[in-house]
Amino acid sequence: MSAPRLVYQVYPRSFQDSNGDGEGDLAGIARRLDHVAALGADAVWLSPIYPSPLADGGYDVADHTAVDPRFGTLADADALVARAHDLGLKVLLDVVPCHTSIEHRWFRQHPDWYVWSDRDGPQNNWRSTFGGPAWSRDPVSGRWYLHSFHPEQPDLDWRNPDVPRAMAGVLRRWRERGVDGFRLDAIDRLMKDPELRDDPPADGRVGLPLGEDDASLEHVHSVDAPDIGDALAVLRDAAGDDAFLVGEVFLPSDRLRPYLEHLDVCFGFELFHAPWTAEAVRAAIEGSLVHGERVAWVLSNHDFPRLPARVGAAHVRAAALLLLTLPGVAFVFQGDEIGMVDGPGSNPPHDRQGRDAHRHPMQWDGSPTGGFTTGTPWLPLVDPAERNVAAQERDPRSLLALYRDLIGLRRELGEEMAFLDATAPGVLACRRGADHLVALNLGDRLAATPEPLAGAELVRATAEPDATAVPAALEPGQGVLARRR
Ligand code: GLC
Repeated sequence: MSAPRLVYQVYPRSFQDSNGDGEGDLAGIARRLDHVAALGADAVWLSPIYPSPLADGGYDVADHTAVDPRFGTLADADALVARAHDLGLKVLLDVVPCHTSIEHRWFRQHPDWYVWSDRDGPQNNWRSTFGGPAWSRDPVSGRWYLHSFHPEQPDLDWRNPDVPRAMAGVLRRWRERGVDGFRLDAIDRLMKDPELRDDPPADGRVGLPLGEDDASLEHVHSVDAPDIGDALAVLRDAAGDDAFLVGEVFLPSDRLRPYLEHLDVCFGFELFHAPWTAEAVRAAIEGSLVHGERVAWVLSNHDFPRLPARVGAAHVRAAALLLLTLPGVAFVFQGDEIGMVDGPGSNPPHDRQGRDAHRHPMQWDGSPTGGFTTGTPWLPLVDPAERNVAAQERDPRSLLALYRDLIGLRRELGEEMAFLDATAPGVLACRRGADHLVALNLGDRLAATPEPLAGAELVRATAEPDATAVPAALEPGQGVLARRR
């Protein structure tokens, strides 16, 4: 399939409830896909929809080929895919091949599909991504098993040929149902050192944010084994050459090459986590561009604080301009297009990692439950009266209007990207394609618009849809897309 230019991430539990139980579901998503299509997306990625005890928000899968009853049925999934295709949208499912829920029947039926210690205790010093040892004792057998994430998520043993075979079957089943591709979860965890050797202490080279515990070790043996390509080849073969495969590889861009041999794109987490300064953002983009258009740009997802918390409320529009004018594939997390902010989460939390705050329900209208549900939402709505889709649809100055305009314009930009040097402090600017120019002010004071933009024709300013000329200076958080005359 031709690569999508814009993929919209849906977190199913928080998108749209259709039956009043307070949780989003597949019928609700299908009903709201017209919003995704109107935004200009070409594909929708659904975070996991499978039966799950929800120890990790659905990333603890208890059956990879079924639909969680809270989300609906397989028939609802078929209807969603059909509706998406009617609207010209591809559907990407989230596949979690590295681990299962401890409640997956495989854990009891096929214990040899998992990774076990041959001692009465942890086999090595590996730490869980979420903190604590990566080994827990199975109370039933008394043996110790590996879990890269929560203890409720035992790692599958991809060195047992039955495991790739089973997971290939999962991908085939969904492809048969019309799914167009997959986002592959935590895929750098798929293959580990066959001897399960200790990781050495960290030497400070990680380059991406890790939990404190996780960051204490250099992940030499616990992730990214040299033969990762063998496993990825199995996934590619099962998905088919025309499936779109996105890897969640939490590694710096200089380690993506083996993944890109088999997957279409990998997320660019360096840009995602770059400090919001012109220098850091430029360095992250340049680091990724060595892979051409094979790094998927993403600034937000269900795992990390929402954009206003990371770049500052005043810079949300500049972030949109940056993301949506980069070459290749870009991902938008639900709610970013209306500027959704982190919420209070819940007490007790649903997510032990503190990520409820980024997963509050979508705000469709200004009513107290935001049009999300007629019941009691599983997480409260944050501020639907202040920001919602319905109001922003009526307002040409809204953030939603900016997203729609930029996503439309995105298709007109060529492939090349070259940064302009000698810009004012805080300003990032580049040439895009043969005749477009982008400039944005990531700093905190007024800065001169770079010289090459003077005299260029204004295409879209972040602040003012009706502006007709490139301004001489950019306010903090402002940006422009222009075309050379
Ligand atoms: C990915 C998911 C995250 C999940 C983890 C373990 O990073 O995005 O939500 O907790 O994998 O499956």
